[in-house]
Formats: sequence, C-alpha cells, structure tokens
Amino acid sequence: MTAHFTPAGFRLDGKHVLVTGAGRGLGRAIALSAAAFGASVTAVARTAGQLEETARAAAALDGECVPLAWDLTGAEAVPGLLEAVAAQGPVDGVVHAAGVQHRVDAVDVEPADFRRVMTLNLEVPYFLSAAIAREQMARGAAGSHVFIASLNSTIGRPTCSPYVASKTGILGVTRAFSTEWSPHGIRANAIGPGFYRTALTEDLLTTEAGMSAVMGRIPMNRLGQPSELGGAAVYLLSAASAYVSGQVLNVDGGWLAA
Ligand SMILES: NC(=O)c1ccc[n+]([C@@H]2O[C@H](COP(=O)([O-])OP(=O)(O)OC[C@H]3O[C@@H](n4cnc5c(N)ncnc54)[C@H](OP(=O)(O)O)[C@@H]3O)[C@@H](O)[C@H]2O)c1
Repeated sequence: MTAHFTPAGFRLDGKHVLVTGAGRGLGRAIALSAAAFGASVTAVARTAGQLEETARAAAALDGECVPLAWDLTGAEAVPGLLEAVAAQGPVDGVVHAAGVQHRVDAVDVEPADFRRVMTLNLEVPYFLSAAIAREQMARGAAGSHVFIASLNSTIGRPTCSPYVASKTGILGVTRAFSTEWSPHGIRANAIGPGFYRTALTEDLLTTEAGMSAVMGRIPMNRLGQPSELGGAAVYLLSAASAYVSGQVLNVDGGWLAA
C-alpha cells in the first residue's frame, strides 16, 4: 500500500462484480460504471433483451458484461444463480439493484403484495450476499457487498409501507453483515438513492401531485440521473473505500439533510 491514495484505487480491473436488476434503470447504470472502471460484470434480471442492451452498452465503453437472465424468486433462486455465475469466476463484488415498489395505502396492503416486496427487496439480497460471503470466506478472499437502500430506509413516505419496511430492513442487514464479515475483509455498505426517473418511479413522477411532492423536497431542485450513482457504486466496490463498512451513502440531491 502506498502512503497516499492514487487514482488506481478506483479501478476494478480483475474484479468480478455481480449486479442484479441490471437490465434497466439504476442497476444498468451501476453495471455500466463498474464495467467502465474495469470490472468483469455479470448482469442479472429476468428480461434477456434488456440485459443484452446493457451488455452492448458496456461493450461500447470497452467494458465486459455478461448477461444472465434469472428470476430472483426468493432464497431458493440463489444456489442455481450462483452455479450459473461461477462460469465467470468467483464473485468479488455484488450490487443488489433488483427491486420492486408497491404503491397503496397501508390499510389496503394485501399479504401477497407485502411478501412480494419483502422477497425481492430484502430476502433475495440477504441470501444472495450470504451465499457469496460464505464462498469468499472459504477462499479467504476479500469482498464488497453493496445494497440499494432508499430515502425510505430513513424516513417513511406515504403509500409504500411494504417498500419502507423492506428498505429499512436492508440497512439493518447492511450493518449486521458488516459487523460479522469485516473481520474476514468482506465489507457491506449501502447506497441510498433519492428520486430517479425509472420504471419503478414512473407512476409517481408522471402525476403532477407526485412530481410536485417530490420536487418540493429536493434542495438541488432536480431528479437524479441514474449515471450519478456510478461514482458511489465504483467507490464502494473499489479499494477507494477499503476502510468503509456498514455505511449508507445517500445520493439524493440533499433531500435527507434538508
Ligand atoms: N428509481 C428510484 O428513484 C429509486 C430510489 C430509491 C431506491 N431505488 C431502488 O433502486 C433499485 C433499482 O430500481 P430502479 O428504479 O432501477 O427500478 P427498475 O427500473 O424497475 O429496475 C428494476 C430491475 O430489477 C429487475 N427485477 C425485477 N424483478 C426481478 C426478479 N424477480 N428477478 C430478477 N430481476 C428482477 C428488473 O428487470 P426484470 O423486470 O426484467 O426482471 C430491472 O432490471 C431498487 O432496489 C429500488 O428500490 C430506486
């Protein structure tokens, strides 16, 4: 290690990074940034066509990205996924960007919808990271696990209570995994995006009321661009954050501080 930090510390060359939810939206932007910084990326989601688009965009950046269509139905989906991913080599980093929203008043939430949100947003990242960490420990390898939190990990916005529950839970998981795994050189952190226009937020941001409720709270007075999450993801995956674990990095235009 040099006495000062160098630009090379941000590079991800030689690292295999698994990104879930990489077919579109925030996951795609994160996958592209990781690939542009030299990682070999495995991009996971259900829709093969969208993953292939991500892989093409990565190739245009001289990046390496292998699309892998997989339905993350729950903890049961994890062993098969990791078997398929093993063809690309052992996993060094993972970003859990697959997620789902369900907008309805708390008093009207159906148990099946509650479970659907909790499964993809909390159960899948939990068991996928645990399986990856188990393998990293067996190899004696370091690792970086990046969870995608939300403003709703810290506050509770209206009409999305299952999502709030899942995103609050994922911060607890980040901290618990950090505490257990840091002695093994395996770090766990989270990124907390503010508001970005994606398929997940389209329903809210296309209504005037939704848009004005959101914009009225953002000190930077604009939505985020998915590419603006790339720096946070590369930082947390790279040696630049070698001594950072158990943290959430909010990328929210200043919302939570206001
Ligand atoms: N957009 C925002 O403003 C915002 C703010 C805070 C946090 N977030 C979080 O950021 C993450 C990404 O959200 P986004 O806005 O990019 O949403 P998005 O555009 O809807 O993308 C979600 C991704 O997850 C994949 N996915 C969904 N169900 C899946 C399943 N069963 N198995 C495998 N992959 C699945 C989707 O692909 P397929 O449908 O093809 O599977 C897609 O690639 C989520 O965790 C979300 O909660 C977003």
